[in-house]
Amino acid sequence: MTTDTTGTVARDGESRPGGPADSPFIRACRRRPGPHTPVWFMRQAGRSLPEYREIRATVPMLESCRRPELVTEITLQPVRRHGVDAAILFSDIVVPVAAAGVDLDIVPGTGPVVAEPIRTAADVERIRPITRDDVWYVDEAVRQLVVELGDTPLIGFAGAPFTLASYLVEGGPSRTHAKTKALMFGDEELWHALCGRLAEVTLAFLRVQIDAGVSAVQLFDSWAGALSEADYRRFVLPHSTAVLSGLVDAGVPRIHFGVGTAELLGAMGEAGADVVGVDWRTPLDVATGRIGPDKAVQGNLDPCVLLAPWPVVEAEVRRILEQGRAAPGHVFNLGHGVLPETDPDVLTRVVALVHELSSRRADQG
Ligand code: CP3
Repeated sequence: MTTDTTGTVARDGESRPGGPADSPFIRACRRRPGPHTPVWFMRQAGRSLPEYREIRATVPMLESCRRPELVTEITLQPVRRHGVDAAILFSDIVVPVAAAGVDLDIVPGTGPVVAEPIRTAADVERIRPITRDDVWYVDEAVRQLVVELGDTPLIGFAGAPFTLASYLVEGGPSRTHAKTKALMFGDEELWHALCGRLAEVTLAFLRVQIDAGVSAVQLFDSWAGALSEADYRRFVLPHSTAVLSGLVDAGVPRIHFGVGTAELLGAMGEAGADVVGVDWRTPLDVATGRIGPDKAVQGNLDPCVLLAPWPVVEAEVRRILEQGRAAPGHVFNLGHGVLPETDPDVLTRVVALVHELSSRRADQG
């Protein structure tokens, strides 16, 4: 084991040279130079791929997340097709809360829908702590994937307490998060009890993935951008910190991501991230100024740009790589997930372009 200047324990010393810990992706997360800027895409495994649609044609979403052989196959599909620098586990943010006893489903075209939304202290009690046995299929899939992926790192993930709470309190996706915020502002004690419970479930779920061999984890707080910085700090930061700081000793990089979080980037970094995800609204050099020099950034191509003609895509990729040079480490990604209507060939071309442009820079430098 080695300890870097921020006190983060790295696994590099334990790993064989050329293994995932020495990959361009993990190097960038740790703010170390590498052969090229690594690239992967949020939602790279999913509806933009015909081979994914074929598998899912007969299997409901949650069931596909609970069958290790399907999780393994779907996770590998974008790695084979695009040559991305990292795989992300095929699952969903509601998988651990379903394992914790919440009755929910993922409805096509809508998203997670909860049968009986969580609104009272008794409802919170229905969310049980989870162990490895409750999510055995994730443990098994990660173990298979680590073997199949070889030197390519696997990213584990979970939803952060605020984003999970939003689905559970609203009962489904919401534009305003009105019921969630009503509970948060109206009953602070109940809010903290709910988020405390969700943080426990999330931490346990990420621990299962780390024990099974993932090389990094991403905490998705997709809807945190609905909050002011003051409210984020009061109602959310302590719980996201409980999750991320609970993983310090695990020795894998922690990525923290949200959408519309321009005002929250500093606070999200403070929660205990090694890498902060940035959406397309904030240029990466500006984001780095807000996050500070001791963290890498991930992002931030607008997923809608992928629907434009190639010269537009190319110009945007160049701009983002250039602005990313201001950061001490840059993982190229989208600012949010791949849209289902994206042409997968464009994703493949973006991967090749990021590699080409960033390796040329290394040759010159
Ligand atoms: O990134 C990856 O490729 C890994 C797989 C992944 C999925 N969901 C698969 C999925 C990941 C990382 C997630 C996380 C997730 N799920 C988040 C956080 C990231 C984000 O997008 O902000 C959120 C908010 C969810 C909740 C959720 N699940 C939504 C909003 C939806 C879309 C609903 C729809 O049909 O439009 C889902 C379903 C879902 N999760 C799909 C996939 C591939 C689509 C299911 C299908 O194929 O029908």
